[in-house]
Amino acid sequence: MTSRPEADQETTASAVSQLDDNATDLSSNKRKVFVRTYGCQMNVYDSERMADVLSPEGYQATEDMEDADLVILNTCHIREKAAEKVYSELGRIRKVKEQRAKSGKDMMVGVAGCVAQAEGEEISRRAPIVDLVVGPQSYQKLPSLLDEVRKGKKVVETEFDIDAKFAHLSERAANPVLKRPPAAFLTVQEGCDKFCTFCVVPYTRGGEVSRTVDQIVNEAERMAASGVREVTLLGQNVNAYHGEAPDGSTWGLGRLLRRLSEIKGLDRLRYTTSHPRDMDDDLIAAHRDLKSVMPYLHLPVQSGSDKILKAMNRRHTRDEYFQLIDRIREAAPDLALSGDFIVGFPGETDQDFEDTMDLIRRVQYGSAFSFKYSQRPGTPGATMDGQVPEDVKSERLAKLQALVSEQQQAFNASRLGMSFDVLLEKKGRNAGQLVGKSPWLQPVQLDAPESLIGSIQAVEIVKIGSNSLFGQLIDGQDDKDISGAIPTPAA
Ligand code: SAH
Ligand code: SF4
Ligand code: F3S
Repeated sequence: MTSRPEADQETTASAVSQLDDNATDLSSNKRKVFVRTYGCQMNVYDSERMADVLSPEGYQATEDMEDADLVILNTCHIREKAAEKVYSELGRIRKVKEQRAKSGKDMMVGVAGCVAQAEGEEISRRAPIVDLVVGPQSYQKLPSLLDEVRKGKKVVETEFDIDAKFAHLSERAANPVLKRPPAAFLTVQEGCDKFCTFCVVPYTRGGEVSRTVDQIVNEAERMAASGVREVTLLGQNVNAYHGEAPDGSTWGLGRLLRRLSEIKGLDRLRYTTSHPRDMDDDLIAAHRDLKSVMPYLHLPVQSGSDKILKAMNRRHTRDEYFQLIDRIREAAPDLALSGDFIVGFPGETDQDFEDTMDLIRRVQYGSAFSFKYSQRPGTPGATMDGQVPEDVKSERLAKLQALVSEQQQAFNASRLGMSFDVLLEKKGRNAGQLVGKSPWLQPVQLDAPESLIGSIQAVEIVKIGSNSLFGQLIDGQDDKDISGAIPTPAA
């Protein structure tokens, strides 16, 4: 499946360019911004918000770095490889900047995101071309920070003022010129209080903060009004959501989903990433009760060994995880599970790894993401005894990925002959082809006219590929009539 909970991959400026397609002022002296996004979906959401904030400043998105007056790297610090990418990219940007300087054009360079937060001014020390370092909670200040840069200053801003960010960004999202894709992200919660011993997130994003119900509902309503059909609620710990409701009470994620499911046009709701400890009864019931809550849940467990779970500070056992999965499956029998796994956490023996393999065999995932443990500076895991050699990690990762891939193929194959709703999101690779998503987040390719982009259609699956499903439209059905229909096996 294509949507990674976080990734060492990057998305490019396209995350923001679609927002600017219909900008009104297209004069050539418009400022241009190039944003490259690394890491999790929250960074994708933040990159869009940065574009929102920069748009009134006259900035228009470009996908061509050579053309940019401002380059922003929205970075990820989750593993060493992800963080190191930033410096190799900055080397490349230096050359582009020098090239532009020859024709008398300037270029400002900013580093945003989690590496910015974690490394601060160290970044401009290591890469002097960086003019601005801005942490994830300060994007609302971009215009004034850029003014400082224009005065010739090197600027580093790593304050944690998340309430200000939420308040300001909600306001910007009201901008009517924004054009949104049919499936979009909406951040409802940021930060994390869990302090798993391998993880940098509590340090780069700060403690847990939830947006208010009103802020979220307003943004979701605006999204629906601009054609968004599917919203994925985002949070590093999204099911720990505890936002203030209009009456002053505190709502959890289940209650929030109920409210959002009332919004006309928002036919599909998803949320990511969840922690097993925060999966409460109300949220599980939302999967049972609300047809707009999609039958797919990303619920990382990281390890199947009680000893390693404890060392990771996950604060639950494997048995508790199994019990939780049983409760979820009882409430939503057609739900597909996804997870994250780390192999080679300090102290992980062959037996601990086997326990993880056993857990995967018992749970049966629809998809999963897996990583070799990476020592992150400042986290307790980095200095623990029993660091696992790289070749052992690689071997375990290959075994685990083979098992998960088998399960994913089997899950995909089980959709053959089924008919269900597909949200058609964009053009496919070949002419006349569109790509959409199944309720279980599988990409579905089919022949359909472009005019159907943004609609939900009943589709029968006729072929299974290695990464996607192939379907055909079921004729004679109207979008509105079938939206949210329960999937049924065809035969
Ligand atoms: N909040 C989510 C995870 C966010 S980070 C949760 O609690 O599950 C996304 C994934 O990156 C994690 O689930 C984990 O599998 C992986 N990850 C985080 N830190 C890592 C590290 N130091 N080494 C390897 N993988 C890591
Ligand atoms: Fe990181 Fe753990 Fe928080 Fe997830 S719950 S973001 S893994 S500290
Ligand atoms: Fe990476 Fe930060 Fe997201 S470290 S995974 S971009 S929260």
